[in-house]
Amino acid sequence: MFTEIYDLNDDKIYDFAMSRAAEIINGDGIVVFPTETVYGLGANALSVQAVGKIFKAKGRPSDNPLIVHLSDVNEIESVACEVTQSASIIAKKFMPGPITIILKKKSVIPDVVSAGLDSVGVRVPSLQSARDFIGRCGVAIAAPSANISGRPSPTLSAHVLADMNGRADAILLEDNARIGLESTVVDCTSEPVRILRPGLISFEDLSEIVDVIIQDDIKIGQAPHSPGMKYRHYKPKAKVIAVNADIFAARRYILERITDSDAALVFDEAKDKIDAKHVFSLGQISDPQYAASKLFAYFRACDELGVRMIYSMVPPNTGVGRAFNNRLFKAADEIVKQSDIIDCEELT
Ligand code: TXA
Ligand code: MG
Repeated sequence: MFTEIYDLNDDKIYDFAMSRAAEIINGDGIVVFPTETVYGLGANALSVQAVGKIFKAKGRPSDNPLIVHLSDVNEIESVACEVTQSASIIAKKFMPGPITIILKKKSVIPDVVSAGLDSVGVRVPSLQSARDFIGRCGVAIAAPSANISGRPSPTLSAHVLADMNGRADAILLEDNARIGLESTVVDCTSEPVRILRPGLISFEDLSEIVDVIIQDDIKIGQAPHSPGMKYRHYKPKAKVIAVNADIFAARRYILERITDSDAALVFDEAKDKIDAKHVFSLGQISDPQYAASKLFAYFRACDELGVRMIYSMVPPNTGVGRAFNNRLFKAADEIVKQSDIIDCEELT
């Protein structure tokens, strides 16, 4: 398939690109578009035929539902019935923004979007060009992340081009600073609301305004609340070892094992102390948002380098650190605990 590619940072073509993308969507085509989290692969959410093309392009299992994207918070009632009190409170505070709320769906949303569930995930992106794209389409846009299924979500142009050139009708590129991890998914169909997928908007943020619990990650293969949780996600080609220990123990563990064929993702506090060929910075351990913005890009960079093992440090499991850990642990072949690292001395 020939894919039309447009750079939205080029003011001269922005308007043409947007109209062309809307035309493609209204003709049941599929378009990659930027959001503040990761790139999405969009189709008319009301068209069974168009949505079918998303599953085909990604190689996505049909029992994994898609998020419906809207350009305006006031449109939520057009796709969902029963906007619960908690959902309204969350929407008021965090939408537009990197959050998806699950609500009982209206019958306009076809089963192929919800994978047969009676609920629908709704999201209003905060990125201006994303809302402009959806608004110009004039329909709700069903969109998963624009990666081939099982690969890390795309955060940069090079990633979407690698995965979707030849698979989508058009690609809209815009590489601004990204959150880098997908939206927080919150099931608002029952009380307390439940976080199905952690993101930048954290458990702590939501706790301030609603009664909220976190869905514990279920084992692969068990009946999940969020169908997406049962699949092994975000898998780079290299073997991933998450070193879930304090920075000193983790540094020691990595130093003892790393070779020139491996890579390490490390916090700056330990970076200079790790003398290896491929070392990627996760920033300061006190700022896991930086680490979150880089994780998927680093996985892809490691694929390009052809590294054999990726050792990653692990931030504290709070705030956006929880979202980082969720993605890292899903990608991990092995999670090393502090107690597995014997004889760890203080870094001097
Ligand atoms: O940031 C994001 O959310 C990005 C951008 C493009 O908006 N989208 C994204 O979509 O990450 P996707 O399809 O890669 O992930 C959607 C997740 C999946 O885990 C899916 O199972 C879950 O949301 N989900 C969608 N609808 C659901 C529903 N009705 N009930 C439970 N989980 C749902
Ligand atoms: Mg995805």
